[in-house]
Amino acid sequence: MIIKSLVSSLVLLIVSFIIIHVYGENFHIRKVSNGNHHETIRRLQSLKASLTRHDSIASTPSSFSPSPSPSSHPNEGMNNPRVFHVTSYGADPTGNSDSTEAILAAIADATNVLSEGHLMEGINNLGGAQVNLEGGNYLIRRSLMLPVSGVGNLMIHGGTLKASDDFPIDGYIIDLSSTSSNEKDSYNFEYITLKDLLLDSNFRGGGISIINSLRTNIDNCYITHFTTNGILVQSGHETYIRNSFLGQHITAGGDKAERNFSGTAINLQGNDNAVTDVVIFSAQIGIMVTGQANIFSGVHCYNKATGFGGTGIYLKLPGLTQTRIVNSYMDYTSIVAEDPVQLHISSSFFLGDANIVLKSMKGVLNGVTIVDNMFSGSNQGVEIIHLDKSNSPFHQIDQVIVDRNIARGMSLKATVAKMSMQGNGTLWNVDFNNVLLFPNLIKNVQYSLSSTGRSFPRHAIRNVSDNRVVIQTNKVVTAKVFITVDQSMVN
Ligand SMILES: *[C@@H]1O[C@H](CO)[C@@H](O)[C@H](O)[C@H]1NC(C)=O
Ligand SMILES: *[C@@H]1O[C@H](CO)[C@@H](O)[C@H](O)[C@H]1NC(C)=O
Ligand SMILES: *[C@@H]1O[C@H](CO)[C@@H](O)[C@H](O)[C@H]1NC(C)=O
Repeated sequence: MIIKSLVSSLVLLIVSFIIIHVYGENFHIRKVSNGNHHETIRRLQSLKASLTRHDSIASTPSSFSPSPSPSSHPNEGMNNPRVFHVTSYGADPTGNSDSTEAILAAIADATNVLSEGHLMEGINNLGGAQVNLEGGNYLIRRSLMLPVSGVGNLMIHGGTLKASDDFPIDGYIIDLSSTSSNEKDSYNFEYITLKDLLLDSNFRGGGISIINSLRTNIDNCYITHFTTNGILVQSGHETYIRNSFLGQHITAGGDKAERNFSGTAINLQGNDNAVTDVVIFSAQIGIMVTGQANIFSGVHCYNKATGFGGTGIYLKLPGLTQTRIVNSYMDYTSIVAEDPVQLHISSSFFLGDANIVLKSMKGVLNGVTIVDNMFSGSNQGVEIIHLDKSNSPFHQIDQVIVDRNIARGMSLKATVAKMSMQGNGTLWNVDFNNVLLFPNLIKNVQYSLSSTGRSFPRHAIRNVSDNRVVIQTNKVVTAKVFITVDQSMVN
């Protein structure tokens, strides 16, 4: 009841808005041609009628069939509607019986509309055709695939799809891979939008796979109960995953079975994709990345705590990483990067001893900036950046900047450090080992010596080794030295 009255007051609001708008418009018209009042009323009435009609269609979806809807303003688009309602094809919105064939039939019709030219060469423009799930919950027994490749500008939206108990365990609920043997050079699909969907893989396979496609949108989806990947992206580019929730198990953290989480929420095996404003609440690996030039922003990972063997974001692109992670929240889960070359991590929050692990494969670390992040831990001495040298030490370190991070209850590490030391004598021996990230590496030192006594000493850097700096004066003085060291300077 509450919802119903809410809806009607909303409709009223919209209508009154339109009245104001139309009257405003009419006011303007009246200046030009006098006495247009009847026309305005007529337009208002037809508008109101169309609103009510729309409302009744929405509440009785099964009575709707894709046929021309009446309109007081006939235009070509209206005579050729491209919204395909799955219940019109016999899909069962209660989820009791198998809806695979019905939904596939709706998809087939949607991909069969009169093409409006091309997007990329070889991609027919479907003009924005929609497969509407009408808020239903549908059981499916095999992957939903498009019957033809080489189409684009299509949306599938608005409902729940659940894998049946006999769904193929290597399948994906929505599988955008090619069904036809297309030429190697062309993309399978372009501008396919999957929106407002709950995908339940029923612990049989994955949620969505996007293969060799361009400009795919995954927007406001909830993907759960996957055993392989929540979302798999393979080759192609520009898959945009946004405003979505992914979790192998439906939990809200601190789950007893967390140690057993096994799936990967997002598996990016392609370039130029974006994951923005996405929460990954359970999986062994939040995002596995093996393609370049992907960006992650507003990603919150609390999938499987690093302490239990989980990883938030795993960058497995040694030698050419080219990844940006910004404005994200690593919640008890870490970022792991193998031999990173060009990696940027900034403005992110690491909670619960979550950190960044730079894992040496061949000892390469190049072009890495980790700046302006916030770390919070439990005083276990966990380093905010950990160098995993189990395979090899890092021996090619260049342009690595770790600076301006802040830590609470964790061990702060940086490539730039400043210290001051008060002393009375001739030697100032300053040790930077507690804070510098790399052992035995100082590429640049600057210092100043402040002495207020009567004498005016001569002084010099006498030794820089093992992350220690020694300053010496030619006579005994009471002085304070200020030293800045840098491990990132390009030689
Ligand atoms: C995790 O998996 C192991 C081995 O399969 C099993 O013995 C254990 O009960 C599981 N734990 C939970 C909490 O589900
Ligand atoms: C500094 O040390 C010298 C001798 O080592 C001593 O004579 C002098 O009083 C000391 N000055 C201060 C300020 O401690
Ligand atoms: C600098 O100090 C190290 C010990 O930290 C020492 O082994 C080395 O010989 C010193 N170098 C010079 C030039 O004194």
